[in-house]
Amino acid sequence: MRSYKAKMVEPITLPSRERREEALDAAGYNAFNLDADDVFVDLLTDSGTGTMSAEQWGALMRGDEAYAGSRSFRELREAVREVMGFEHVVPTHQGRGAENVVYGVLVEEGDAVPNNAHFDTTRAHVANQGADPVDCPHELARDPDADHPFKGNFDVDAGWELVEDVGAESIPVVVLTVTNNSVAGQPVSVANTREVAAFADEIDATFVIDACRFAENAHFVREREAEFADATVAEIAREQLSYADAVTMSGKKDALVNIGGFAAMDDPDLFEAAKQRCILYEGFPTYGGLAGRDVAAMAVGLREAVEPPYVRERVEQVAELGRLLTDAGVPVYEPTGGHAVYVDAESVLPHVPKERFPGQELVCALYLEGGVRGVELGGFAFPGTDRPDLVRLALPRRTYSREHLEHVAETAAAVRESAECYEGLRIVEEPPMRELRHFSARLEPA
Ligand code: F0G
Repeated sequence: MRSYKAKMVEPITLPSRERREEALDAAGYNAFNLDADDVFVDLLTDSGTGTMSAEQWGALMRGDEAYAGSRSFRELREAVREVMGFEHVVPTHQGRGAENVVYGVLVEEGDAVPNNAHFDTTRAHVANQGADPVDCPHELARDPDADHPFKGNFDVDAGWELVEDVGAESIPVVVLTVTNNSVAGQPVSVANTREVAAFADEIDATFVIDACRFAENAHFVREREAEFADATVAEIAREQLSYADAVTMSGKKDALVNIGGFAAMDDPDLFEAAKQRCILYEGFPTYGGLAGRDVAAMAVGLREAVEPPYVRERVEQVAELGRLLTDAGVPVYEPTGGHAVYVDAESVLPHVPKERFPGQELVCALYLEGGVRGVELGGFAFPGTDRPDLVRLALPRRTYSREHLEHVAETAAAVRESAECYEGLRIVEEPPMRELRHFSARLEPA
């Protein structure tokens, strides 16, 4: 049962099959190029697409637009101190702004940066510094059927192997992404967080948590890590983040806003350096590229994200979509993660070889069959890696209802039944930066 009701609605329509075919062709078989008006249920991302609360809309009206020293900034700083436990905060326009500020300060050419798994913008920011982003996923991470409570964990042995290869002096930063978006939104345990913190400490590296989905992660810890069975999500979040030296945060996820992000830390030197880079790329460090009202709404959302009914229902809704898909005979990554269900495209379209992008083909098929938009996070989005071809169906927060989820499951079942119609795709145009190709490449049926 939802512990909220809607008081603002937005109409959506399912375009005709003919219109969907035209739209997909015009989009170059890349769902990022579709007009959102042509999409019925939009599961492209959970980032910035959720519904704000009445309290957040109220905060928007009260936002302080002062260029420097805004009251809204102080509200954010208080929220970050209370919810996350960091003394200093540098607001940024969104999560990648925080990545630019933090990695721009800490990472240099020739360095290596281990992460349980880099999200694409994180990978690109590390690469953009001339450094090598290295994934250290849990050994079961790539197995969609393996049952383990924390498949998002960081493989510390892989971290030590990297130290042997490149030397500790080349590793300025160790990153832990919670939940692990590139590993099907799987959670990371607090026990693993402690191990990663100890590893970073031993090699004298700064330990950064990518905290985009810290509240959803804390919910899983409460459910799955015995030590925390009686703790609140808010307590777990504080505990888990307390091991990090800094966080990068996309407010568009677990701060429940449509735009915004920040970096937060305790170290005054890192804070000072991050502020300077913020001025260069984002804006004065009390607004960081945001309107004061956006900062104010983010402060409220950060507190709402750790409220027990909200976060429990949120994660349960994702699990519900996973169950509906499984019941409809559509294989999904198990167990379902915190923000999205990841469909196993190689099982839905087993006849499509990897070089013809079964994941991207499934994204197109879901759109053609039911106006559902997801995103490929496999061989197309991460060229040169051995990731399984998964299609992510990410649920915006507090937005869709059970009927929408049923439509998604029926659509996926229809694709499975007509699988032989889908033969794969080839790329006809791609941008120079390969790490970002899935955002703008154009394809055609192979
Ligand atoms: N880190 C992770 C783990 C993310 O999932 C994202 C964004 C970012 C950093 C960057 O944040 O978008 O605010 O600049 N993920 C979105 C997604 C885009 O669809 O998963 P941002």
